[in-house]
Amino acid sequence: MNKPIVIGMIGLGTVGSGVMRLIARNAEQFLHKVGAPLVIKHVAVQSKEKERDLEVAPQVLTDNVEDILNDPEIDIVVEVMGGIEQAKQYVTKALQNKKHVITANKDLIALHGAELAQLANEYECDLFYEASVGGGIPIIRSLTHGLASDEINRVVGIVNGTTNYILTKMSQNHEDFGDVLQDAKAKGFAESDPSSDIDGLDAARKMAILSGLAFSTNIDLSDVHVKGIRHVSLEDIKYIQNLGYTLKLLGIGDRKHQKIEISVEPTLLPNSHPLASVHNEFNAVYLYGEAVGETMFYGPGAGSLPTATAVVSDVLEAAKNLRLGTTGRSYITPQYGKDLKSNAEMDRKYFFRILVKDKPGALAQITSIFAKHGISLERILQQPKSKSVAEVVLITYRSSYENYEEVFNEFEQLDVIDSILSSYRVEGEE
Ligand code: HSE
Repeated sequence: MNKPIVIGMIGLGTVGSGVMRLIARNAEQFLHKVGAPLVIKHVAVQSKEKERDLEVAPQVLTDNVEDILNDPEIDIVVEVMGGIEQAKQYVTKALQNKKHVITANKDLIALHGAELAQLANEYECDLFYEASVGGGIPIIRSLTHGLASDEINRVVGIVNGTTNYILTKMSQNHEDFGDVLQDAKAKGFAESDPSSDIDGLDAARKMAILSGLAFSTNIDLSDVHVKGIRHVSLEDIKYIQNLGYTLKLLGIGDRKHQKIEISVEPTLLPNSHPLASVHNEFNAVYLYGEAVGETMFYGPGAGSLPTATAVVSDVLEAAKNLRLGTTGRSYITPQYGKDLKSNAEMDRKYFFRILVKDKPGALAQITSIFAKHGISLERILQQPKSKSVAEVVLITYRSSYENYEEVFNEFEQLDVIDSILSSYRVEGEE
């Protein structure tokens, strides 16, 4: 039999436990696929004594990560501890010690991926991170391998399960944001501090990774325009449903003439769009390639075994590369420098809900500001709210983001506007 491929894993939480279970469950299949057995020699944990619902041989557990990073027998390091700075230190050291690294850590890759990829290049190591986006959905390999022959110009994703669960329940049960959030926490879909999910940061990190790969450039987190779902109201959802749309927290990466824009924001999709029927905690990524046209990838975005499938598939690829002597050659170095669209180059269509003082000419003043900035209106409806105030809901045609900024500025000065209750992007109708 060929020499085993020896693995050291850092972390044994939800994902790490799934990795151990999957490697044990499918050991024979992996032997066949790789031509050598996979052996987990050490797992670094904070406390060896902690009770776990997984049986691990005592000699496998270590509370000293150096047992993994400095062990010359270990070929592949799996980082599933999470966090940023310490994980970065460990991954760096593993690569410097010529170990191939598999990580599920989107925060680490979104913030330091370019630097780590360069280090992997220098030390001729594999660095794979399929599990960092979309849990069990093989979206990274689809971009780097399956669609490598195409030119991808649009990536649209529901890449955060917590917010998709919340928006789904608000839409289906007509419950308030706060109530659904409590329920999501109780069911374990939302973290006890869910801010990075509901404020869009988790999705922004994933979109930075996906867009960087799709457009073959390095994307920084600060390049992503982010707006979360904290302020989405049940009233918004009801209007949106009545107009035939579904509200989703969408990540959108778009490239036109080599210019890029990336955003994460609550967005209206027509009910007929395939992403509109991605419900609950599920994730999906829709890609547009110039040759292939539209493709969509759907599945569980988190969870122990689903995420472990992505981690272990990365391990298998690194293991096969080791056997073939091709490690360190299969990741993608960016082809292009980064060129972001200006506000004048971004085009948008918007849904607005505006509280207006109910007096003669109020609506005319609002519509004339849109007209002045070249924005045409597609739909408009007005609903009296009280004796003196009415609610105006409207959907625009596409125009530049620069024009919308001017409209927003003028609205702030406009006496007949009581408040802008909400404004969301509308997509998916091209
Ligand atoms: N917190 C993430 C989500 C799961 O809600 O999708 C892991 O990326």
